[in-house]
Amino acid sequence: MLKKIPADRLRPGMYVHELCGDWMSHPFWLSSFALKRDSDVRRILDAGIREVYIDTARGLDDAEGRRAEDVKQDVQKEMEAAIRSAEEPVIQVSVGEEIRRARQVHAQANKVVRDMMHDVRLGKAVSLENVEPVVEAVTDSILRNSNALLGLIGIKNKDDYTFQHSVSVCTLMITFGRSLGLDGEVLRQAGIGGLLHDIGKMKVPDAVLNKPGRLTDEEFVLIKQHPGDGHEILLGTGGVGDIPLDITRHHHERLDGGGYPDRLQGEQISDMARMAAIVDVYDAITAERCYHRGMPATEALRKMWEWSKDHFDQKLLSAFMRCVGIYPVGSLVRLESGRLGVVIAQSPVDSMKPTIRTFFNTRSNAYVPTEVVDMASPRCGDRIVSDESPGRWKVDHLRFLDVETA
Ligand SMILES: [Fe+2]
Repeated sequence: MLKKIPADRLRPGMYVHELCGDWMSHPFWLSSFALKRDSDVRRILDAGIREVYIDTARGLDDAEGRRAEDVKQDVQKEMEAAIRSAEEPVIQVSVGEEIRRARQVHAQANKVVRDMMHDVRLGKAVSLENVEPVVEAVTDSILRNSNALLGLIGIKNKDDYTFQHSVSVCTLMITFGRSLGLDGEVLRQAGIGGLLHDIGKMKVPDAVLNKPGRLTDEEFVLIKQHPGDGHEILLGTGGVGDIPLDITRHHHERLDGGGYPDRLQGEQISDMARMAAIVDVYDAITAERCYHRGMPATEALRKMWEWSKDHFDQKLLSAFMRCVGIYPVGSLVRLESGRLGVVIAQSPVDSMKPTIRTFFNTRSNAYVPTEVVDMASPRCGDRIVSDESPGRWKVDHLRFLDVETA
């Protein structure tokens, strides 16, 4: 059985199934492992991890632990309540109308980031003239309908992680900022910050940056230098505003002081850096990497909510979940009837019941004629049972995002 316990109750003989916290803030990654000696326990506590899941079938039990299933249900209920109390997103055109333009914007943004990062690797300066029009185009697309670009950033190509991640964080920062009522120059600056936030990674050797599997402590020290290095690169660039500088330096800071590089705590962390921390982790854990499958978006939000009290601003995280939805556009979901569908629009009345387009039947393992299903409609006799990984079913679900207007 999986149980959640406070990390200070860990002892040798227990089997760690999962560490609660984003693994970019500590060197353990996603691994499960047995605790053999006191020093193993100390290492977890020293990394600032407060809670863990243990597997009682593979190691010692703890009487005070809570069953993983109970925790999951509570987290889901809290998230639903948080989303219901957050603000509504603004939509001007349909996803179907926006998706073609969004594809061009997305491709262009990826190219600009790739060229820029390549230049930085070669020791050349960052050129803001190329960055600004991209951020402008991303902002315009989001203002027309954020669901189109949000759907596209859900398509992850594992070979291009660092570039795609920058474009995704830019897109998410603008979408999130917009939903919080930011506009004009502030919104643009948030987008620039998103696009540039990991520029310091170009100082990390490729072999470490793209290493499959767990990093050594020494390699992790190198990775942790990227916010400071990025900040320095941008200071040297000239003309970069305070918001992108702040986002670049502080997107790995955590509310409990366990982040890096400056170990800021609570109020010392700006709202922009708190927003960047949320979107950075969300995109990182949903990304396909050469060594791990991307986590479905809904699962990622659930995990982040669970960690939120130590790491993230809970109010901002509620607003973020409201803005992307509990089943974000582009998510693949499975229905009770056995059909698979892609989420094509959020419901204005119930975030748990989006509109989806079904295209596959898992019982016959075959594509079926598409059908738009409004899960919030009283006539809908079906319900979502889970969010799914497209890789599991080998389907190109995003093909079905733009066949007609949503
Ligand atoms: Fe980063």
